[in-house]
Amino acid sequence: MSTNDEPATVAAVDAAALQDEALAAVAAASTPAELTELHTRYLGRRSELKQALRNVRDRETGMTLNAVRERLEQAFAQREAELERAALDRALASDGLDVTLPGDELAVGQLHPTTQIRRLVEDAFLGLGYEIRDDREVETVEYNFDKLAFPSTHSSRSPRDTFFIGDDVVLRTETSPSQIHHLESREPPVYMVSIGRVYRRDAITPTRFPIFHQFEGLAVDGGITLADLKGTLLHVMRVLFGDDRRVRFRTHFFPFTEPSIEPDVSCGVCGGAGCRMCKFSGWVELGGAGMVDPRVFENVGLDPEEWSGFAFGCGLERSAQLRFGIEEIRPLFSPDLRVLRQF
Ligand code: PHE
Repeated sequence: MSTNDEPATVAAVDAAALQDEALAAVAAASTPAELTELHTRYLGRRSELKQALRNVRDRETGMTLNAVRERLEQAFAQREAELERAALDRALASDGLDVTLPGDELAVGQLHPTTQIRRLVEDAFLGLGYEIRDDREVETVEYNFDKLAFPSTHSSRSPRDTFFIGDDVVLRTETSPSQIHHLESREPPVYMVSIGRVYRRDAITPTRFPIFHQFEGLAVDGGITLADLKGTLLHVMRVLFGDDRRVRFRTHFFPFTEPSIEPDVSCGVCGGAGCRMCKFSGWVELGGAGMVDPRVFENVGLDPEEWSGFAFGCGLERSAQLRFGIEEIRPLFSPDLRVLRQF
């Protein structure tokens, strides 16, 4: 047969050329896919080398061809490892993780300053044994004015001052109607705080807004005095504004308290020296207060000879302004988070 007649050296020479050609191709391969293709071409079942191996008749040719096959398999494995290493290096360089980069900032929520004040007030009065009450914002003239002993000619009964919803229905102008609702709903002794929105037809100024919040307090018991009112307000002012606050009272008038007073708190912004916040007086007015007027007791069917009590009403926004040093009330009604995040 012709194959038998071929001299072994012919195969050996072909093998050497084949090996050089294949090694050059493997060294030039730049992708794993290319390498796979070359593997098929030079070492696959139908490759020149495998066919030659199948037809080997003498030992020496077999050894030569096998040596070539082994050399090539080695070259392929080596090149494959090189390409894998290069791909890994590229990946590490491009989508590497730099653990020293600053992390993403998490959006942490926070309570609105007015809500913070509300919670402080609630906690302070719950600690004193008070009940928390929640009442309607749409109120009748009877509860907003009549039962609180407002005279029929009082200016705040006018639609110029108050938002009327119907002839006898208003948006409450203060939280004081809660006093009436509470006294009508249970027997004294009572200690309650009512917190919520109130409405007034006021022009917007640094300290006024047509909607704001008040906290209303009412204590009715046997033998309550003005000193109890003063001590209670002092306690709450210290919870809200710090341990070194002082409280002073100025006489005033409210239809539903007698005597009536306005509590001032010493200005925490300037420590009493005088600043814009306190209009250079060292004191900031916080609301109204007084001893429950006998007519209010009568209006809810209680004997003024048997019971005495005090009431107070203070602004939550005003308190927030004082606590956080906010000179204007308007930011407290702004939906702008950049403003609110400061407090
Ligand atoms: N309701 C009064 C106001 O809004 C404040 C007040 C409350 C005064 C309770 C006395 C007693 O101005």
